[in-house]
Amino acid sequence: MGYGELNIRSYNPQKDRARVEDLERRCEVGPAERGFLFTDTLGDPICRIRNSPIYNMIVAELNNQLVGVIQGSIKLVTIHKPPKNLARVGYILGLRVAPLFRRRGIGSSLVVRLEEWFIASGVDYAYMATEKDNDASFKLFVEKLGYVKFRTPAILVNPVNCPMYRISSKYEFEKLKVEEAESLYRKFMSSMEFFPSDIGKILRNKLSLGTWVAYPRGESWGEILPSSWAMVSVWNSGEVFKLRLGNAPTSCLMYTKSSQLMGNLVPCFKWRGIPDFMHPFGFYFIYGVYREGPMSGKLVRTLCRLVHNMAAKCSDCKAVVTEVGGSDTLRRHIPHWRLLSCPEDMWCIKGLKNEERESFYELIKTPTTRTLFVDPREV
Ligand SMILES: CC(C)(COP(=O)(O)OP(=O)(O)OC[C@H]1O[C@@H](n2cnc3c(N)ncnc32)[C@H](O)[C@@H]1OP(=O)(O)O)[C@@H](O)C(=O)NCCC(=O)NCCS
Repeated sequence: MGYGELNIRSYNPQKDRARVEDLERRCEVGPAERGFLFTDTLGDPICRIRNSPIYNMIVAELNNQLVGVIQGSIKLVTIHKPPKNLARVGYILGLRVAPLFRRRGIGSSLVVRLEEWFIASGVDYAYMATEKDNDASFKLFVEKLGYVKFRTPAILVNPVNCPMYRISSKYEFEKLKVEEAESLYRKFMSSMEFFPSDIGKILRNKLSLGTWVAYPRGESWGEILPSSWAMVSVWNSGEVFKLRLGNAPTSCLMYTKSSQLMGNLVPCFKWRGIPDFMHPFGFYFIYGVYREGPMSGKLVRTLCRLVHNMAAKCSDCKAVVTEVGGSDTLRRHIPHWRLLSCPEDMWCIKGLKNEERESFYELIKTPTTRTLFVDPREV
């Protein structure tokens, strides 16, 4: 490339930990006008993939300087691909190239190296998620490396603030045992796209705070399920890494300031302001949202409020985040702030096996509105 020899190799914790953290701190993600989001991995750069069954981190060095990094994880998921409807998928995340070294092919070389590892590990499809307006990332994956836009789930963000929500007495709640939660997920959600075959491991992970169900008061939770019910699970992402907003859009800052002012001036007024996102904060991720029955929308809303109240008791948890598929009607029932949410997180996919070409076309031509299972380990 004319700038020295690019050395792409596996991550070595002793040698690379501090340098990868430094690179992460210098890399803004997202377009300037929306405000950059920085990740603080709390001294463990591999924390975002550590909970996946198989993972890898690759770094790029130029003249002994660490200039790029990428991470990947592999798992088995439901994908409508007869006869077994299962596929091995490789998820790409955490691609970063140091600002002074961009547009020299380092980002693409890292992706290609990770794809080689996927292929050697028998992966059928590689996929990644990016914000719709991350032009550099979109052009790299779609225009240069042949990825195809595939699904556009919405990331819904609800700031955690006081006062807490009032929880209606019309509903009953129950925290499920892990075995019960696993069997409900397998029974009701296993045909959902990207449902992970190791759901039990996710539910048993120490970051998984539990699974709750809600149903109308007066009915009972047992062998026969209530007439309406809803279920959510909660993952404590803040245990693994923190986020911080840099260069926040003026509208967001003004809102933060004015809401703080409002809170100071009229403390008795139940004002829901935006918490301080400029300092590192953690968040709870709601996953595995499922509902059945005519009242289930309200039950989902109530469960989300219950999670909000749990989060409010955790000192550095400043947001509750959920990700739901395309036109999923669920999003109407999940409390969120439009100002903070992302209506279209863009998932792109690439088939890595020639013989899978046909099922790949089947997969990408199915409507983008299908319900997706979003794995909390990949947030
Ligand atoms: C996205 C990123 C990794 C690209 O790294 P890079 O080393 O500059 O990428 P490459 O040099 O391999 O670029 C490959 C192609 O991507 C496209 N591309 C890369 N950066 C671009 C930009 N800023 N604007 C438009 N297209 C861009 C171009 O098509 C480029 O090919 P070309 O240079 O021949 O025109 C880098 O900009 C980055 O670290 N950004 C911040 C973190 C981030 O957004 N990561 C992606 C999260 S999914």
